[in-house]
Amino acid sequence: MPNVPTHRPRRNRKSQVIRDMVQETHLATHDFIYPIFITEGQNQQIEIKSMPGIHRFSADRVIDEIGRCVELGIKSFAPFPQVNEALKDRLARESANMDGLYLKTVADIKRQFPDVVLMTDVAMDPYSSDGHDGIVDAESGEILNDASLEVLGQMALAQARAGADIIGPSDMMDGRVAWIRDVLDSNGFSGVSIMSYTAKYASAFYGPFRDALDSAPKKGDKKSYQMNPANRREALRELALDEQEGADMVMIKPALSYLDVIREVRDNTQLPVTAYNVSGEYAMVKAAAQQGWLDGEKTMMEVLTSIKRAGADAILTYFAKEAAEVLRRG
Ligand code: PBG
Repeated sequence: MPNVPTHRPRRNRKSQVIRDMVQETHLATHDFIYPIFITEGQNQQIEIKSMPGIHRFSADRVIDEIGRCVELGIKSFAPFPQVNEALKDRLARESANMDGLYLKTVADIKRQFPDVVLMTDVAMDPYSSDGHDGIVDAESGEILNDASLEVLGQMALAQARAGADIIGPSDMMDGRVAWIRDVLDSNGFSGVSIMSYTAKYASAFYGPFRDALDSAPKKGDKKSYQMNPANRREALRELALDEQEGADMVMIKPALSYLDVIREVRDNTQLPVTAYNVSGEYAMVKAAAQQGWLDGEKTMMEVLTSIKRAGADAILTYFAKEAAEVLRRG
C-alpha cells in the first residue's frame, strides 16, 4: 500500500467560502494612491501611448477626473506636471512658481476637494532643461548634491503653501529628507508629512512615465543618484537614514521586481511602507492584455495583491481606478 498523505493543505482550499475565510491579504480601495498627469491648456485629455487608459489632463479636466475617482472611493492622489519646454531651465525655477501650472492646480484641487490627500513630487526633472533630478554641473556633468538641496527645499515649501498634504521627495539626493523637514518646520508647515522615496532604483521601468512628462535625461543616466537594482542591503541603509532624518512614511520603487526589498523594509521599520507600481509595470500588463496574451484584470489584481502581501501598506498605482471598480463589484 502506498502511503496516503496525513497532512492535506488542500482542505483549506476546497471551496470559495473556505478560501475566502483563510485569505491572508485583502486589497482595499483606500490602499491606493493614484498618480495623475497634469498638462497645460483647457479641455485636454490626452491618452499616453505607452500607458493605455492613462491620460494627461488639463487643470479643468483633472477636477472632473478626481471627482470620478472620489466616487469610486479613491481619496489619495500623486499629481505630476508636464511642463512646457520653454519654462524649463538649469535650476528648475518653474518648480517654485505659485502661479505655474502645477501649484495652481494643486491649490485648485484642494479647494474643490478639501478631504482628498495630495502627495506632491519633489525632484527637478520635469522642470529641468537637463532632465535630471538635481542640478547638473555645466562643465563636469556631475549632479550636484548640496546645491540641489536648496532648490528641492524651495520646491517643497512652495508645494506646502499650495496645500500639499504629503511631500514626496523622489530625487534621491543625500540629506534631502532632513533638509526638507527643516525648511517646512521653520516656515510653519510642521503638519505637512514627508513620504520619502527611500529605495528608488535606477530602473528601466520608468520609460512610459518619462514619455508622459517629456522628462527623460538629456544626457547620461540617473545611476549616480538612483540605486543599483542589484542591491538589497543598500535599501536598509537608506531606510535608516530616512528614519533619522524624519520621514513619516517610506517607499520602495519600482514594486514588482523589488518585492524582496519591500519585505525587507517592512521587517525593519515601524513606519508605514508604500510601494510604487510604476509606469513600466502598468504598461507590461496592458500590452500583454491588448494582445490577448494575459487576462488583464486578473493579472492586475494579482500584481496589486502581491505588492501588499510583500508588505506594502499603500500602493501608488496607475491601476487604482480599474482596481477600485473591480473591488466595488466584489
Ligand atoms: C521623477 C520621477 C520618476 C517617476 C516618479 N517620479 C521618473 C524618474 O525618476 O526618472 C517614475 C514613475 C513611474 O515610472 O511610474 N523623479
